[in-house]
Amino acid sequence: MTELALDASGKAALAARAWVEASKLLDLQLSPLGMRAIDTLGPAPGDVVVDIGCGAGQSTLQLAGRVGAAGRVVGIDIAAPLLDLARHRAADLPQVSFVQADAQHLDLPERSADGIYSRFGVMAFADPQAAFTNFRRILKLSGRLGRVDGFNQHQSARKTDDG
Ligand SMILES: C[S@@+](CC[C@H](N)C(=O)[O-])C[C@H]1O[C@@H](n2cnc3c(N)ncnc32)[C@H](O)[C@@H]1O
Repeated sequence: MTELALDASGKAALAARAWVEASKLLDLQLSPLGMRAIDTLGPAPGDVVVDIGCGAGQSTLQLAGRVGAAGRVVGIDIAAPLLDLARHRAADLPQVSFVQADAQHLDLPERSADGIYSRFGVMAFADPQAAFTNFRRILKLSGRLGRVDGFNQHQSARKTDDG
């Protein structure tokens, strides 16, 4: 048997390619969970929302529908192939933009977002505490965090402690 010897970035690239290929099926499966977290997050028209680990962008598009033309949604992902697909899908939505970055070290201005959202995009963080502390810095005082993840299969949204 031949074994594939891949380093971490090789594994991530392989996972990204697989996610692109299966994106239609995965979107069908994950959309109901993601929509529950979006409903709980409650983005309003005009809001600025950041979608962490946005992948192929289904949630980013769904969030864009909630914030409308006056709002803004920024999708963040580390994987270029997924962002290519996401950009293609959002080509007609001027309120949507994407940034290729490691979301653990997100360099967005302090108190600049009304909402931070993630659908299975925060599970692989090496230092979740640092990442979420940074998210809190980026959120406005009234900001909300909404996520659905694979640790405990629950959706949650809550206000920042100081908001
Ligand atoms: C399980 S997929 C979910 C994708 C998308 N949110 C969805 O539900 O279809 C996890 C995503 O997080 C991205 N990701 C993982 N670690 C990341 C990091 N440190 N910074 C940014 N994106 C990351 C991956 O590239 C991948 O697109």
